[in-house]
Formats: sequence, C-alpha cells, structure tokens
Amino acid sequence: MTTQNQSANTIVSTASTTNVSTRLNGKVALVTGGSRGIGAAIAQRLASEGAAVAITYASSADAAQQVVNEIRQRGGNAIAIKADSANVSDIKNSVTTTVAELGGLDILVNNAGTFGIGSVEDFAEEEFDRILAINVKSVFIATQEALKHIKNGGRIINIGSINADIVPFPGMAIYALSKGAIATFTRGLARDLGPRGITANNIQPGPVDTDMNPANSDFADSVRDIMALPRYGKAEEIANLTAFLASDEAAYVTGASWNIDGGFGL
Ligand SMILES: NC(=O)c1ccc[n+]([C@@H]2O[C@H](COP(=O)([O-])OP(=O)(O)OC[C@H]3O[C@@H](n4cnc5c(N)ncnc54)[C@H](OP(=O)(O)O)[C@@H]3O)[C@@H](O)[C@H]2O)c1
Repeated sequence: MTTQNQSANTIVSTASTTNVSTRLNGKVALVTGGSRGIGAAIAQRLASEGAAVAITYASSADAAQQVVNEIRQRGGNAIAIKADSANVSDIKNSVTTTVAELGGLDILVNNAGTFGIGSVEDFAEEEFDRILAINVKSVFIATQEALKHIKNGGRIINIGSINADIVPFPGMAIYALSKGAIATFTRGLARDLGPRGITANNIQPGPVDTDMNPANSDFADSVRDIMALPRYGKAEEIANLTAFLASDEAAYVTGASWNIDGGFGL
C-alpha cells in the first residue's frame, strides 16, 4: 500500500514537473496589474513555466516587489514596472521597458482592471471615464505598443469578465460594458493578427477571491447562490488557463472568450 502510494506520488510529481516547468522557456511576458490578485498568480505561473516576466502596478510597489522576489528566489527572471493603466505614456513605457530589460516580448496579458458599482441613472461621468480608461483604453494602447515587438507565435491574452455575458445583479452596467468591449475587441484583434500568426484570447472569470471581490464579503453568499459550483475561484485557477493559452498547445485557439466561472448564473 505504501509502495503504491509512493509510486502514485512519484508519477504525479514527475508529471507536474514535466508539464509545468518548461512550456514557456525562452518567452518574455508582460502582465499588467501583476502586483496582486489574478495578475500576481498569472505572473507566478508564467514564470514557473520558464517565461521571463514583467509586471506592472499602479500603487502597490511593495506587493509588486514581493512577486518579483518570489519569482527570482525560485530561479526565475522578473521585473516590476510602475505604470498606471489610466496613463497612456506609462503603458507605452511599460512595454518598451520590458523589451529593453528582458530582451523582447512574446506574451501580453492585459489583466489590470478596476470595478465600479452604481445605477446608470446617477453614475458619475468621471467614474465612467476612469473605468473605461483602465479596463478598455489601456488594453488597446498596450496591445498596439506590444505589437511593435511581438513576433509570429505571439500571444495577446485579455482578462475580461463573465459579466460581459451575464449581469445578474443591479449596478454593474458600466463594468459589464467595459468587459463586453474586451470580448468584442478580442474577436476583431484575432482577425487582424491572424496573418501574423499571433493569437488573441479573452478569459472571462467568474467570482475569484481577490481584494476586488473577496470571498468573505457581505455580497459573497448571494453570488455563491447562483453558481453551479458554489464557491469563489482561486486566482491560480485563472492562471492555469492563462498558461495554456500562452503556450504552443493553444496555437489553434484565437478570438475566443473563455468562461472560467464555476457555472455562474447558468
Ligand atoms: N476577482 C474577480 O472576481 C474578477 C472576476 C472577473 C474579472 N476580473 C478581472 O480580473 C482582473 C484582475 O482582477 P483582481 O480581482 O485580481 O483585482 P485586484 O485584486 O483588485 O488586483 C488588481 C491588480 O490590478 C492593478 N491595477 C489596478 N488599477 C491599476 C491601474 N490603474 N494601473 C495599473 N495597475 C492597476 C493592481 O495594482 P495596484 O495595487 O498597484 O493598483 C493589482 O495588481 C481585472 O481586470 C478584473 O476586472 C476579476
């Protein structure tokens, strides 16, 4: 029995080492908003598969440095770049800094995002502009700048939201609008980039336990009530899908929106 268990453990360990460690060797990735939450998990995962990783942050310098330190301690290569996704020159600078310091760019993960809640009837115009700047315009700017460097086989991966498809609670119209834009942008982008052999995909997470959407908030039980799997996702689960889409295994996948949501609002 013990031998069987040891044997099984060995197989699992070998398989995970083989599958996880080398898929992205030699690649360079830029993950926007990589200091916390989903972006931090994606950065860690891409690095664990061999990619050199740049992350951006707006204000969480210590958390960003912690992500970088953890990657370096495991033998990886990572840098953190302060870049506000609401600022066009910051975004462009994050791309050029990544290329200059890490030697190129193969994978862009547009993850940085913000949330805002409120009825359309009295939603402030300034808040509308802030959400659209960070969730939508930044994706266009980063993608356009990155495409000056990304070559055949490159990857654009956008982090949208299941709220592009399903809006089961009031007050989410503007956030949903911003993530719906990402879904349609991704489809058009895939068309534009197909001839260059670059894929574009949109990941649509459901509730994921982060600072943006904590699993222990007052709101969380009503969220779990409408899910097939009544739990919040882990950031690492979004990173799993991101790593697949970034890899050569996903070379024939483009223009798609990938729901990863525990069966949210089915
Ligand atoms: N959590 C969910 O349930 C969920 C569900 C669907 C989709 N999403 C999407 O997933 C993405 C990540 O969400 P999350 O839950 O991980 O959020 P989070 O925990 O709030 O983390 C957001 C990350 O983005 C960065 N960021 C925020 N505003 C920025 C700006 N203006 N410029 C640069 N970086 C900025 C933050 O860095 P700083 O701390 O330095 O600002 C942080 O690293 C977002 O696009 C979000 O819309 C999340």
